[in-house]
Amino acid sequence: MNVPDLRVNIGTLHLKNPILVASGTFGYGSEYGRFVDIAHLGGIVTKTLTPEPWPGNPPPRAAETASGMLNSIGLQNVGVAAFIEEKLPYLQTIDSALVVNVGGGPADEFVHVTERLADCPGIDAFEINMSCPNVSGGMDFSTDPGQAAALISRLRKLTDRPLIAKLTPNVTDITEIAAAVEDAGADAISAINTIRAMAIDPETRRPKLGATMGGLSGPAIKPVAVGAVWRIAGRVRIPVIGIGGIADVNDALEFLIAGASAVQVGTSNFVSPKTGTDIVDALTTWCSQRDIRTVRDIVGSIQLPSQEAIPCQHS
Ligand SMILES: Cc1cc2nc3c(=O)[nH]c(=O)nc-3n(C[C@H](O)[C@H](O)[C@H](O)COP(=O)(O)O)c2cc1C
Repeated sequence: MNVPDLRVNIGTLHLKNPILVASGTFGYGSEYGRFVDIAHLGGIVTKTLTPEPWPGNPPPRAAETASGMLNSIGLQNVGVAAFIEEKLPYLQTIDSALVVNVGGGPADEFVHVTERLADCPGIDAFEINMSCPNVSGGMDFSTDPGQAAALISRLRKLTDRPLIAKLTPNVTDITEIAAAVEDAGADAISAINTIRAMAIDPETRRPKLGATMGGLSGPAIKPVAVGAVWRIAGRVRIPVIGIGGIADVNDALEFLIAGASAVQVGTSNFVSPKTGTDIVDALTTWCSQRDIRTVRDIVGSIQLPSQEAIPCQHS
């Protein structure tokens, strides 16, 4: 059996394999280093960083749902200065790509975080959490093509490292936002962030989350995410990173076949932190057994029925 080439490129970001772990589900890496061989992953995406430390939302901040989880952690994080001082040294020792996720309220906060990190060694790319509510603009950056593009344009001037725009599914047409950030200079797109959702305890009649609304993630959202990736990949020329409900190699393959060049494992890390590394091994076996020499041959390899065979695509 051949040993397949799992390497993929996300613009100038070179990954040894297409499996990363998603922001907010793998801490700053060090929390998982005892349990997982992180260097076996294609990369790690850190929790969203803001200029100042942030405590996040009031508890309870997570609730289990059918095939998924609801969370309202918010942007709890150590702040960019403590990240550089306390978290980055460990992350720099890991031999897999380091993607730092950047967030904030007003655009100036994204700028501040990116500027502080721009010259730090060991950071391979920035993922921009466009789902942050724009304090001055009132809505999430990634729910408005103009605001999304304006933010990416500002950040583009600050760094030559790859900029990955992470989009929310909570819009009418995610491809409009994808096209806007591509035009503004993004090197890649991550899709999707969590789906806005809510759960209620019938006994107390209270929302299960302290923040009332939260974000739905896990296997329940996978078909939404695969559909988003397929539509985005058909609209833009830059690479797409698929995220949403990935728990095993078949889930990862769905995204790759739909057009994702790489994927991120999120909620499944709470079931087993080894999900990502297990998928790397299973992907190697899957490709070998089929004599697929490079995983890049799988990307976008979807076989679509002819249009005549689909009388109504939305029924
Ligand atoms: C507990 C939790 C915290 C998260 N925190 C962040 C975050 O800080 N920044 C971000 O961009 N996405 C965050 N996400 C979203 C994930 O990175 C991912 O986009 C989403 O959960 C869908 O993937 P999944 O179904 O595999 O979890 C968080 C998700 C969860 C479940």
